[in-house]
Amino acid sequence: MFLMRAVDLIRKKRNGGTLSGPEISFLIDGNIKGTVPDYQMSAFLMAVYHKGLDAEETIALTGAMVSSGKKLELGSIQGVKIDKHSTGGVGDKTNIILAPLMAAMGQKVPSIAGRGLGHTGGTIDKLASIPGLRTDLDIEELTQDLKSVGFFINGQTDEIDPADKKIYAMRDATATVESLPLIAASIMSKKLSSGLDALVLDVKTGTGALARGLDESRELARLMVRIGNSLGLKTIAVITDMNAPLGRAVGNALEIKESIAALKGRFAPDLLDITMALAAWMLHLTDTVSEETRPQRLNEDLLKRYKDEVWDYLEHGDAFKKFIEFVDAQHGDAEAILNPSLLPNANHMKPVLSPWNGYITKLDAYAVGHASMLLGAGRSRMDEEIDPAAGIVIGRKPGDEVSADTPFATLHTNDPSRLKEAEEVFLSGIEISDREPPKRKLIYDVILPS
Ligand code: URA
Repeated sequence: MFLMRAVDLIRKKRNGGTLSGPEISFLIDGNIKGTVPDYQMSAFLMAVYHKGLDAEETIALTGAMVSSGKKLELGSIQGVKIDKHSTGGVGDKTNIILAPLMAAMGQKVPSIAGRGLGHTGGTIDKLASIPGLRTDLDIEELTQDLKSVGFFINGQTDEIDPADKKIYAMRDATATVESLPLIAASIMSKKLSSGLDALVLDVKTGTGALARGLDESRELARLMVRIGNSLGLKTIAVITDMNAPLGRAVGNALEIKESIAALKGRFAPDLLDITMALAAWMLHLTDTVSEETRPQRLNEDLLKRYKDEVWDYLEHGDAFKKFIEFVDAQHGDAEAILNPSLLPNANHMKPVLSPWNGYITKLDAYAVGHASMLLGAGRSRMDEEIDPAAGIVIGRKPGDEVSADTPFATLHTNDPSRLKEAEEVFLSGIEISDREPPKRKLIYDVILPS
């Protein structure tokens, strides 16, 4: 019998070969135990980036990542455990709104989330801008929070999906983020580790998404829906627009401030539409788990019924109260939620002026995400500190009218040397025309289990 060696498996993948389940487990287990060093794992990730993984290999990778840690056993907690996970976008704060909203409605939401990746933001970095808030809780504390608050949002830890914790950070620093099988395994391993019954995936499509084209986004959605359902997790995917940032704030504390406003019922129109659609799908999926039926395409009536129900919980402040309970339970300063001016604020702010009169026809999500990262909101190395106050507030969105030399966005940073480049990158993503553009499409498709 031959001894398995990481270098041979890397070469096999580099040359376009197919790896077996045990070979994939050898690499993942070895990296966690330290027998496969990070430089070999990085080379493996690059080989996967170029040569891909087939569905069986992706399922094996997901399984090996789940097995790198413990799974939450939540059977003793009453109710359907449901979550929503996004494939990553710019300004996407729907997790922070939906988890307390669903918990206020009586659902249980055990949520394992990630840090920012590349130009996209991450829920864990956003929450880290709340003073004191911890996202590295152990299983015992998470289980307790789920029982008492109804939801938690935690990162991958040394206990839960440690393989994703390591690989996620490595991908960010080795230009291997935009790989469909790596995205699918990363997301599904977190979700399969967290004891869920049902999952709504928000697969982003467009310039700011990790899978940019609609065909690629559909492929990613189908792959994850297949992985989830074949491993016993009722999963559907909604494909939503990421050609422009979602909502008005991009950057960590800025997005927490926008989420707080939303939890009190004050939403940018696109953020409202996407949040409502995802909430409706979460409620529908919860019903199908309870009634043991298959998810159906939602007709207008059903969609409206769910949305009306959801709006009640926002309007009456129940979702906002849940968020405060969560911040408290995860050791954060709830005062900063009641008074958001206590959240980190940047020392330097620069308005970006519109170069022309006209309608905004393009506000490129990638350019905005990249500019926000340059201001300090994201990382270019695994261990880089981020500036929680950095980011961009967008005053005008696609379809809005702007006048020359008036501000339509504001850059926030604590390092003024970053402003010039960030402004140039931001402006490179803008198009203004004298003709009003057609209304932006927000939802492209829904992928149900086959
Ligand atoms: N979200 C994740 O959790 N992982 C990815 O790879 C991309 C988005």
